[in-house]
Amino acid sequence: MKTRIAVLVSGGGTNLQALIDAQRRGELPDGEIVLVVSNNPNAYALERAKSAGIETAVCARPDMERKLIDTLEAHSIEMMILAGFMAILSRDFVTRWPDRIINIHPSLIPSFCGEGFYGLRVHQAALDYGVKVTGATVHYVNEIPDGGRIICQKAVDIQDGDTPEVLQRRVMEQAEWLLLPRAAQIVAQRIRSESGE
Ligand code: GAR
Repeated sequence: MKTRIAVLVSGGGTNLQALIDAQRRGELPDGEIVLVVSNNPNAYALERAKSAGIETAVCARPDMERKLIDTLEAHSIEMMILAGFMAILSRDFVTRWPDRIINIHPSLIPSFCGEGFYGLRVHQAALDYGVKVTGATVHYVNEIPDGGRIICQKAVDIQDGDTPEVLQRRVMEQAEWLLLPRAAQIVAQRIRSESGE
């Protein structure tokens, strides 16, 4: 048996693509991405999922969480990966899935994280502060935004003249696309072993 994974997205979906590619290469042996859910019907990530033959769903406001819960339960989802999912999940939602939801954040937590820090804003904040090193973090999701236990991190150098866009791309290439599939396998494997397999 493989851990049944749903990937939650909102935008372009390059992290979703990294997961799909890793799965194809056999680097996610204990998990299977069975569903991609977006809170945004126009997310390009949905096209990436369809091209890979993965089922998709849109769960948007109002009642996003109710729709999400129904969809996840209908697909017997055991683990969720937030891959550029730009909505904050309530305490009620996350406590249903303790240690079963992971998120990728484009900085070295605890820097430049929490409510209001997402996407390019994170990289803009790092450049404004003047740090010389940033990176990415994969962590468990709990009721505190970006506050759950850290699974893995990778540092990336900031270079003179970086713009938020240039830095975002470097952090994705050098950290996010490597870390997320690795973390997904670690958690999928743990869930399998906890279920006694
Ligand atoms: C990624 O950089 C991800 O780390 C970030 O949004 C981007 C989504 O890109 N997530 C957050 O900022 C969450 N707070 P993608 O749709 O191409 O994967």
